[in-house]
Amino acid sequence: MIECAVWWSEPVLESEAMLALLDPPERIRYDSYRRVEDRRRFLTGRVLAKTVAADRLGLSPDAIHFDATCTDCGKQHGPVRVPDAELGLSISHAGDRVGVAATSGAAVGLDVEAVGRPVDDSLIAYALNSAEHATLPSAPEARTQAFFTFWTRKEAVMKATGRGLRIPLRSLVLSKATEPARLLTSDDSALSPHTTRMADLDPGPGYRAAVAVITTDEIDITERWWSPASSESRQ
Ligand SMILES: CC(C)(COP(=O)(O)OP(=O)(O)OC[C@H]1O[C@@H](n2cnc3c(N)ncnc32)[C@H](O)[C@@H]1OP(=O)(O)O)[C@@H](O)C(=O)NCCC(=O)NCCS
Repeated sequence: MIECAVWWSEPVLESEAMLALLDPPERIRYDSYRRVEDRRRFLTGRVLAKTVAADRLGLSPDAIHFDATCTDCGKQHGPVRVPDAELGLSISHAGDRVGVAATSGAAVGLDVEAVGRPVDDSLIAYALNSAEHATLPSAPEARTQAFFTFWTRKEAVMKATGRGLRIPLRSLVLSKATEPARLLTSDDSALSPHTTRMADLDPGPGYRAAVAVITTDEIDITERWWSPASSESRQ
């Protein structure tokens, strides 16, 4: 059984203590966001990920320095990893939700989405193949919910591979949105149903989220909420 911990937070207000945890490339990214909400989501994701990593590795958050090298261009905007540590990490943010998933080494992908935005036919055609499309309910509300269930499951799987949306969304066929999350087939050699486990999560009303782990074992998921105050009181 592979254990996977998922932590949720709302975007937090900046503080000197939090900003001090950012390494220089992270500070450059933080400063480059024009909108305050983007800055806060980014800061919260990195601080939460450092807090979770530190807790699991028996270190303090300021001892965690992520390598987030993008395999395409070398910039520091790829998936985060702690060099030389047996730790799988994935960060996701949307609206008022920031999440971090962690495992003891298995590759993991997390995705959260706000379900408010409209789902038109072109978005459905971009993300779902015809087998999945045929399973969508026709009632608008149920259709939107089902679409975002597919979307978050797919993005979680793609993030677990470390390639993200470089894998075409339509190259995967997933189980129906009303059934437990499962990869049925994949056209991409990086993924196979035998080594892909996933589950839906509960990020609260108005959001949908899923996590995927690359493993042949079953997965055991715990979800918790984080607040910086409770974290400080634990240190
Ligand atoms: C990863 C990706 C799916 C993120 O989608 P999103 O819905 O906008 O963002 P989310 O909030 O869910 O995830 C953001 C996190 O994904 C992680 N991430 C970035 N690239 C990733 C990848 N290839 N695989 C897995 N995770 C990745 C980062 O940790 C990021 O957190 P950060 O903002 O603290 O750096 C999407 O950006 C992607 O597919 N990127 C790779 C392809 C690409 O555009 N490359 C450009 C290279 S030059």
